Amino acid sequence: MRPDPETEMLRHVRKPIRHDAADRHVQGNAPYIDDILEPEGTLHVVPGGAPVAHGRITRLDLSAVRAAPGVVAVLTVSDIPAKNDVSPVAGDDPLFVETSIEFHGQPVFAVVAETRDAARRAVRRAVIETAEDKPLVDVADALKADADIMPPYAFRRGEPEAVIAAAPATVAGTLRIGGQEHFYLEGQVALAVPGEDGTLTIHSSTQHPSEVQHVVARVLGLADAAVEVVVRRMGGGFGGKESQASGWAAMAALAAKVTGRPAKVRLDRDDDFAMTGKRHDFLVTYRAAHDADGRIEAVDVAFAGRCGYSHDLSSSINDRTMFHADNAYFYPQVHIASRRLKTHTVSNTAFRGFGGPQGMVFAERLMDDIAWATGRDPLDIRYANLYGTSERNITPYGMTVEDNVAEALMRQLEASSDYRARRQEITAFNAGSRFLKKGLSLTPVKFGISFTTTFLNQAGALVHVYQDGSVHLNHGGTEMGQGLFVKVAQIVADEFGIGLDRVRITATHTGKVPNTSPTAASSGTDMNGMAAKKAAAEIRERLAEFIARDWQVPVASIVFRDDRVSSGEMSLSFPEVVKKAYLARTHLSAAGFYATPKITWDRPKATGRPFFYFAYGASCSEVTIDTLTGEFTLDRVDILHDAGRSLNPAIDIGQIEGGFVQGLGWLTMEELVFDAKGRLRTHAPSTYKIPTARDVPADFRVAFFDNPNREDTVHRSKAIGEPPLMLANSVWCAIADAVHALAPGKAVALDAPATPEAILRACMAQTGSAG
Ligand code: MTE
Ligand code: MOS
Repeated sequence: MRPDPETEMLRHVRKPIRHDAADRHVQGNAPYIDDILEPEGTLHVVPGGAPVAHGRITRLDLSAVRAAPGVVAVLTVSDIPAKNDVSPVAGDDPLFVETSIEFHGQPVFAVVAETRDAARRAVRRAVIETAEDKPLVDVADALKADADIMPPYAFRRGEPEAVIAAAPATVAGTLRIGGQEHFYLEGQVALAVPGEDGTLTIHSSTQHPSEVQHVVARVLGLADAAVEVVVRRMGGGFGGKESQASGWAAMAALAAKVTGRPAKVRLDRDDDFAMTGKRHDFLVTYRAAHDADGRIEAVDVAFAGRCGYSHDLSSSINDRTMFHADNAYFYPQVHIASRRLKTHTVSNTAFRGFGGPQGMVFAERLMDDIAWATGRDPLDIRYANLYGTSERNITPYGMTVEDNVAEALMRQLEASSDYRARRQEITAFNAGSRFLKKGLSLTPVKFGISFTTTFLNQAGALVHVYQDGSVHLNHGGTEMGQGLFVKVAQIVADEFGIGLDRVRITATHTGKVPNTSPTAASSGTDMNGMAAKKAAAEIRERLAEFIARDWQVPVASIVFRDDRVSSGEMSLSFPEVVKKAYLARTHLSAAGFYATPKITWDRPKATGRPFFYFAYGASCSEVTIDTLTGEFTLDRVDILHDAGRSLNPAIDIGQIEGGFVQGLGWLTMEELVFDAKGRLRTHAPSTYKIPTARDVPADFRVAFFDNPNREDTVHRSKAIGEPPLMLANSVWCAIADAVHALAPGKAVALDAPATPEAILRACMAQTGSAG
């Protein structure tokens, strides 16, 4: 390989550097919002929720609440000075219920008290009388009632219905895919501090500081410029703080406005479960035609997604389900339909993958269905259907897949995981084992990178160099544990050729970088890394021009490397050059801006190039199920993932492992249960089971697929935040493969999540035994 002059200069980029706050995280001295020393007189705000899922308030008596010890104020809709709306897009999320209740636990009022304990006790004294209506709880209810919350949407190519009707070989099915609670370790929290002349500073645990700013300003009737939002870090967001942190910040801001004192909202975990949205659950119905080799000819699939009571981000989330209903596979003729349904439950929202994982789970089930129908190895069916070249590389939404590496990646994993030999061993094991059955599955991931809402693909950064050569780094992205801040610091340090210790990472702040997009769609580093790189490069150019003049040498001869600035024999330390440049009146601050190139999307025509590129991966999972109890063990997992040229292999491996385990939780353990009255019965860790350290597979082999991004991304890296979650699809498919072994040739009736109960039901259906 030819030495790459750019790589030659890199000292931090592509190195496995630990998270900037790793030590502080484990020592407990990385301040989260509830750790910030409370300003004198801080009050505590606790919301009071609706007692029914659907109905009207007929009487609201809060006199006992007001009279409770420690209570300073009780807030209702009548305290809102401007607009009762905390929604991200559609204007349909009230901060407080006016009269009509849309979900169980919907905030009706909030208590502002001297202590959190006093506020929590006072909330219980409320008298809320209601006239109750029957709620629409799940997708089936909503479909029966034709309760679409927005118009349906579809992608189409050709006439798949006609092809399927005439085809000799078809598969069909229905599939239920469950939702998921974010279970971020730090729940929703915001601290609002009033400033002079009606201004406010908000510390919010949000992925979207600019939206918190806009929502607070909207509710209080302030100019955006009167509200500053600061975010140092979140204890996890996972999409749950993309739109849904705003309401709690607005509630704290309203309390601060009404009382003139600082005010903090920190949701109790049960309230957080009951009052905030989750991953959308789906009912999927599909039919497909294939040839004798299992190659797909036509697909007709309908997704029905539970949006909850309001729009939130459901339009783009359900779109992303459609964008990923193909996963890595080519559907020659295709109809992908989507209905977005209203229910009287929390408003479902972004969750790692943003609807994409649900589309891909369908695609993987379709591959397995065809394998079961044809008797071929599921892996061979997958190979037969991958996107290819010419004609076989166009997605159902008209984008040409130019960067496809799925097959090469899967073949490498097939070899390194020893798939074929293990398949034989498993077949032999299953033949000799009556109650324990093994399953194996190798599934790909192809995930589109960019916001499909095109205008969001922009980012800004602000870099200052001080006289001592230390660097203040700021950008519009937020840190939620994913390692964005250290990656951007690595990029900036290498731009200046200085040590990482000279770069000071600072909190995201709407007063430094304005009009930011949420840190979401996995694009945080792609966009903020580029913006910061440009800002640093601009200052470096100014330094180079100055020192070239000073030394009487060509600008092109100036090299920034290893904490020094040099030209031939001449050399000074970086701080020395900065000091000289300052004294010569050089501007040592710069703003950078980046807008993702090449992307277009025409939603009404359902065509364009919504994604700058795709990130790829594949995983191979082996499980053993106990057909008498429905329990399973995850025996081995092999992962090969495409991070482009990884900016930080330590961080990226963490994202792959963490994303995989979160996906494993979604597909095998986490189950949200709403009762017929629309009450969430699984609202605490006692009833909602997330994966723990014990659920990490004992034999877990994670490697990178070497594949520099062919698009011009920052140092040829690829986004890593969301795609690995979908590597867990192979676990769910391996469980189905094990169930299939009970009666080969018969389609498995296993939904997601594959809890022990669901696996047991699928086993009984497979053998035809009564429940
Ligand atoms: N990793 C950690 N540790 N915590 C998180 O909250 N969120 C995920 C992913 N990885 C998350 C995470 C989600 S939903 C997204 S969109 C990306 O990180 C956002 O950050 P990025 O764009 O910088 O990758
Ligand atoms: Mo991630 S679901 O895009 O915040």
